[in-house]
Amino acid sequence: MKKIILFFLVCSISFSQKKTIEQRVDSVLALMNLEEKVGQLVQYSGGWDTGTQTVKPSEAHEKLISKGKVGSFLNVFGAESTKRLQKIAVEESRLKIPLIFGLDVIHGFRAIFPVPLAEACTWEPELIQLSARWQATEAASTGLHWTFNPMVDIARDPRWGRIVEGSGEDPYLGSLMAAARVKGYQGKNLSANNTIAACAKHFAGYGGAEGGRDYNTVDMSERTFRDVYLKPFHAAVKAGVGTLMSSFNEIGGVPQSGSHFLLTDILRKEWGFDGFVVSDWNSVGELIPHGIAKDLKHAAQIGINAGVDMDMEASAYFNYLADLVKEGKVSNKIFDESVKRVLRIKFRLGLFDDPYKYCNSEYEKKTILNNEIVKATREVAKRSIVLLKNKNNLLPLKKNLSRIAVLGPLANSKDDPLGPWSAQGKPGDVVTVVEGLKNKLGNKVEILFEEGCKVDGSSQDGFGKAIEAAQKSEVVILCIGESRSMSAEARSRAYLDLPGVQETFVKEIYKTGKPIVVVLMNGRPLTINWISENIPSILETWYLGIQAGNAIADVLFGDYNPSGKLPVTFPRYVGQIPIYYNHKNTGRPYDPQNHYTSYYLDLESTPLYPFGFGLSFTTFDYSNLSLNKNKIKKNESLKVSVDVKNSGSMDGEEVVQLYIRDLVGSVTRPVKELKDFTKIFLKAGESKRVEFTITPEKLKFYDINMNFVVEPGDFKIFVGTNSEDVKEASFSIVD
Ligand code: GLC
Repeated sequence: MKKIILFFLVCSISFSQKKTIEQRVDSVLALMNLEEKVGQLVQYSGGWDTGTQTVKPSEAHEKLISKGKVGSFLNVFGAESTKRLQKIAVEESRLKIPLIFGLDVIHGFRAIFPVPLAEACTWEPELIQLSARWQATEAASTGLHWTFNPMVDIARDPRWGRIVEGSGEDPYLGSLMAAARVKGYQGKNLSANNTIAACAKHFAGYGGAEGGRDYNTVDMSERTFRDVYLKPFHAAVKAGVGTLMSSFNEIGGVPQSGSHFLLTDILRKEWGFDGFVVSDWNSVGELIPHGIAKDLKHAAQIGINAGVDMDMEASAYFNYLADLVKEGKVSNKIFDESVKRVLRIKFRLGLFDDPYKYCNSEYEKKTILNNEIVKATREVAKRSIVLLKNKNNLLPLKKNLSRIAVLGPLANSKDDPLGPWSAQGKPGDVVTVVEGLKNKLGNKVEILFEEGCKVDGSSQDGFGKAIEAAQKSEVVILCIGESRSMSAEARSRAYLDLPGVQETFVKEIYKTGKPIVVVLMNGRPLTINWISENIPSILETWYLGIQAGNAIADVLFGDYNPSGKLPVTFPRYVGQIPIYYNHKNTGRPYDPQNHYTSYYLDLESTPLYPFGFGLSFTTFDYSNLSLNKNKIKKNESLKVSVDVKNSGSMDGEEVVQLYIRDLVGSVTRPVKELKDFTKIFLKAGESKRVEFTITPEKLKFYDINMNFVVEPGDFKIFVGTNSEDVKEASFSIVD
């Protein structure tokens, strides 16, 4: 009898639309016992069979679900598989609380888009929002409710393998990309069956790892933390992100998955975030090796009291949280608050109203890899390409060539263009560069493909045939770079050169005297000094996803004029790292006339390619930079305008970038800070006057007292085509 009453009670809560979500959360919480509350804070990973997208989680997991002892799974997907587990939760458990399924949909589920660092090169937040929208549509059709994305870690060190997962070194661009992805994944209605909860990660400061070595110690001032690394997370929270993921790293002695300052003081009290925080994989358990927890129970106590709501895979909460509550080491208030946050997101997702809304096999079949999504991957891919060099306008190539040599270890690779974190992306779905060229040129042009060498390794056995192919051809397209397994988590590199014998290979092909286009596929800036110096045309393509070959062919033959701009600085040598555009001036900025200034004896201090750099097949001229005032009050805005002319012979797009410099502050300020940009299309010969508005919000920073304020003083404005090639003006802020 009791069970029946309970069943109707839960149903009434679940289906009572007129109650607010908060009322429904409170009602469910009131019914829960201690074990069931712990269950909502436990996440396990399901094993899965990638071949058939069916999931075979362990028997143990299914038992836990039926007892309400686990509230979430990651790495479980597929309409059928998620439905099977959801059925156990909502039909067999006492309170029938639905599960939430999450996966790393970082740049697509099956229709793989360019890696996030490549997408950032578009400088088109609206396009990236659309990309995330498509990704969510596919992911939701496979029973997923949640993606562990956007990764919004600022990265200033390209040795760090995870630079590929984010949007680069700049907090302004990174913030816009973070917000765009959150809106794209979550849509306007999180309970719709084509939207999923987003997760801003890794909270926070993870990209500041010393030496660029993943998981390594991070130490930075609170000012840098707030002015640079926290900015994109705050943007994600303001965009309504449903969850955050606490990171592995410490900052200044405090592991972030145990940081009350971060997870409660900043995230909850300052920012008012009401979603939930999931730990990164076992990051609660790692408080032990970090040396702030003596055992797993102690780690659980630190994690929950700091503000980690859900424990991914550490079994810390599973094993010890109930005892910690009984022993008073975790207050009921804190404990219940964490449970409510998880229930709140499940209600917002509509899971209580219809736990099976995402489990429709028919919808899944017609959604996965549909033509619309595949077309979108190609559109985003071509716009992610950055033209680094095009001497003598070798590009775009003519379509009436008779023979092209397409060489290199990445020329016909089916899996590397997927990049890392490619979820259910399949090599068979990938269009390689060779295939893309054949699609573009048909059989009118002979394509000679030779691998020449591997990405890594020392063998030069393939050089001979590749050289022969080059000698027989009118132009050579050389596809080189890194394999996708050299990027992402636990993939830091101490050197940024091309791996293996690739550079030697390029030099051998160069000796043939043929015109060469280098197509780079890589997950981080590379120190390609010799190539940059000697090769006439260079495309940076990163990992462009399933339509890589078609997108690259679109650019090579001018069907799309490349418009990408770098979101990261390219160093000349590893020894320059950290090197980023928004650096401080120091007391002794480099002065070639003065030895006692900041520079290297054995290397110039400039980057190989600066932040914001990217060429076009046409040229753009900037003129008439003007401000509507040269003095503004602290609460006033400034209007900035500039003429941009397409002075070349081809229509094209330009990202007009606006930077500022605060010359004197109560603390030192960067020599440049990106504060606005706009991407414009100009027909050949067309001019446009571009306008920006610099609002007080864009001029604020953390002053000497850590107040976020606008300070009076003199400023410079820079507007141009990248962070170095700019026109300059000045203005002042008066009290
Ligand atoms: C990994 C990554 C994180 C990912 C999580 C789940 O260790 O750090 O980015 O979302 O585990 O796969």
